[in-house]
Order: sequence, then structure tokens, then C-alpha cells
Amino acid sequence: MTYTTAILGASGYAGGELVRLADDHPDLEVVHLGAYTKAGERLGSVHPHLPGADRTLGSNDPADLPDVDLVFMALPHGASAAPGAALADRGLRVVDLGSDYRMDTAARYAAAYGTDHPHPERLADWTYGIPELFGEAIATSSTVAAPGCYPTSAILALAPLVTDRLIAPDGIVVNSLSGVTGAGRSLKPDLLYGAVDESVKAYAVGTHRHRPEIEQGIEHASGASVSVVFTPHLVPMQRGILSTITARPSGTVTPDHLNQALRAAYKGAPFVEVIDVPPQTRWVAGSNRCLLWATIDEPTGTVIVLSAIDNLLKGAAGQAVQCANVMLGLAETAGLPIAGWLP
Ligand SMILES: NC(=O)c1ccc[n+]([C@@H]2O[C@H](COP(=O)([O-])OP(=O)(O)OC[C@H]3O[C@@H](n4cnc5c(N)ncnc54)[C@H](OP(=O)(O)O)[C@@H]3O)[C@@H](O)[C@H]2O)c1
Repeated sequence: MTYTTAILGASGYAGGELVRLADDHPDLEVVHLGAYTKAGERLGSVHPHLPGADRTLGSNDPADLPDVDLVFMALPHGASAAPGAALADRGLRVVDLGSDYRMDTAARYAAAYGTDHPHPERLADWTYGIPELFGEAIATSSTVAAPGCYPTSAILALAPLVTDRLIAPDGIVVNSLSGVTGAGRSLKPDLLYGAVDESVKAYAVGTHRHRPEIEQGIEHASGASVSVVFTPHLVPMQRGILSTITARPSGTVTPDHLNQALRAAYKGAPFVEVIDVPPQTRWVAGSNRCLLWATIDEPTGTVIVLSAIDNLLKGAAGQAVQCANVMLGLAETAGLPIAGWLP
């Protein structure tokens, strides 16, 4: 059976990856590509790497959408709340890659984003979309909020260790390095080549809105409240996130305990693999995989966990398609790359 789909935000980085994945998907047919300032342009003018260049970008307005089986929304923060509500009212399945429906309560949303949510009564209708942790809820949900890229890397690494009480729930430190595509495609002076090349910087230090999302995701997966210090860094590469996470062990914990807990949690999960060496972003570029590895810093007894993903795949479009597969009852891996690109 073929399911029709629309992609809003198709002219952006995440939207472009959604088009690439959905075009190659054996069970999806793309029938509408939405854009904002680029509406009316040819797909080929914004994504020259994609086939089907003569397709015309339509609008992101839900009123212009035909009835489809599933809508992907890859819109900036704040731009998906209204269309998400309108599409849900039409009874359409929606996967939102943005942040508008990720927090579970109005209070948490206001604390994370500094504004009130325009549709707070809707927040409880949306399921947080990490299939490895919330697959059963995703399978029965018609509205899924795909996680942020940093939270995906951190929550997958931490949730099993908190659940199994191998690490203390407080004092968790997440330092993440991201490629520049994580910031989207719109022009920003601090993302120009001259500003980014040959330099590394931390940003939103102590204030990044993904910290509460990381804490909420671990809490939902483990049932335990956690507190996290999160510091993101921009590094001069295109794709990838590497999170280096430290935590205090609970009792006597060995590297084997940590890696066995992670392996047990993701047994049978096609996209999460615990490996024997520290993972690198290059090993997951082009892949929907998350690679994990844990150890103990012996002199201090500190737990260290490393997590690598491609921000545009497992961190965005790949995970969104994985959620769509689960919602539609398809094979979880349908249309998704497991192997990466090297070199
Ligand atoms: N990039 C990542 O690694 C990543 C990872 C996880 C989640 N996400 C999330 O995915 C979403 C898209 O990110 P991105 O990196 O693809 O951003 P992007 O490259 O900047 O693309 C944004 C898209 O939204 C459209 N748009 C811009 N302003 C709009 C508005 N006011 N109303 C409706 N549409 C508007 C743009 O259309 P035009 O081009 O036609 O103007 C474009 O298609 C964001 O919420 C982001 O947080 C991104």
C-alpha cells in the first residue's frame, strides 16, 4: 500500500532530507512540497541535488494541502503550532520536526521558550518521537513531535543508564558538538563561512532550550527526574553531533555494566548500536544510526558516555521518517539508510 505525504518546509535543510528520503521510500508518495519565501520556485532551484527538479514548491499553509495520509512539518520554531493544530483537526497524521509540540505541559513550554504556548490544550495530544524509547505510544498516535537533534543524542545515551540506576540523576553534564547544518539554512552572519571556519565556539551557554527537553525525555523514559548541564558547541563541519556526557556512578559501576545496559536497552533496535570504541560523527554521516560507547574515568570514577548521530538524519528527517513508519505500521527501517558514507 502506498501512503501519500506532504512535506512542509521542503526548501529547508531538514525538509530537503525529508524529500530525499520520502522519494526513495517504498511506501510513501510525495504529493505536496511546501515552502515559505521559496513558494512558487522549482524544487531544483533550492535543492539541485534532488531528482524531480521540475516539481513546484507550493505553500506551507495547511489550507492549501490536499488530504494526505501523513504530513511532515519542518518549519522554524513557532511556525508549526498553528498548522499542527489545523492538520490535527482535519484528522491527518502529522510528524512535526520543530519544537512547538515537544514539551508536555504549558508550564514546561513557557520555562523552555520564554513565551506562552498558543495552543497549550493541545500539548498532551502529541507524542514525543524517539521510537526506541516511546515506540508503543508513537504507533497509536496521529500527532508526533520529533525530538531535537541534541536531545536525541543525549536521551538515547542516558535514558537506559538512569532507568537502571547506574548513574546519579543529578550532576549530569552534556557537552555536544554540532555541525553547522543544525542551525538551518537561513542567512545568519554568525554562520557565514568566515565566522565558522577554523573556529569552535560554545553558544547559548547555560540557556539552551534543549536542556529542558533532554531532562523531560529522560524523565519520561525512566520515570526519574534528572538535572542536566548542557553546553552546545558549533564546529566547522557540515553534519553530525557528538555528545560527550559525564555523570556520577550510582554505587560500583564498571564499563561493562554501562555498555551491557545500553546493549540490553537497544536489543533489536535497528538504528542504535553500542560499539567498542569512541564513536565519530563521520561514521554516522548519511545514516539514521546512533552510535554509543561508555566507559569510566578511573582516577575520578566518573561515567563517560559518547553518542554520535547525523543531525539531519537520526537528529531530524531520518527519525521523522522512522516515526512515520511506526505510525503507519510499516517496517521501522523502511526507506531509511543504515550504512553511512565514508570517506
Ligand atoms: N537542521 C537540523 O539539524 C534540525 C535537527 C532537528 C530538528 N530541526 C528542526 O526542523 C525545523 C526545520 O529546520 P531546518 O534546519 O530545516 O531549517 P531551515 O533550513 O531554515 O528551513 C526552514 C523551512 O521553513 C520555512 N519557513 C521559514 N519561515 C517560515 C514561516 N514563518 N512560516 C512557515 N514556513 C517558514 C522555510 O521556507 P523558505 O525557505 O521557503 O523561506 C524552510 O522551508 C526547525 O524547527 C528545526 O529546529 C532541525
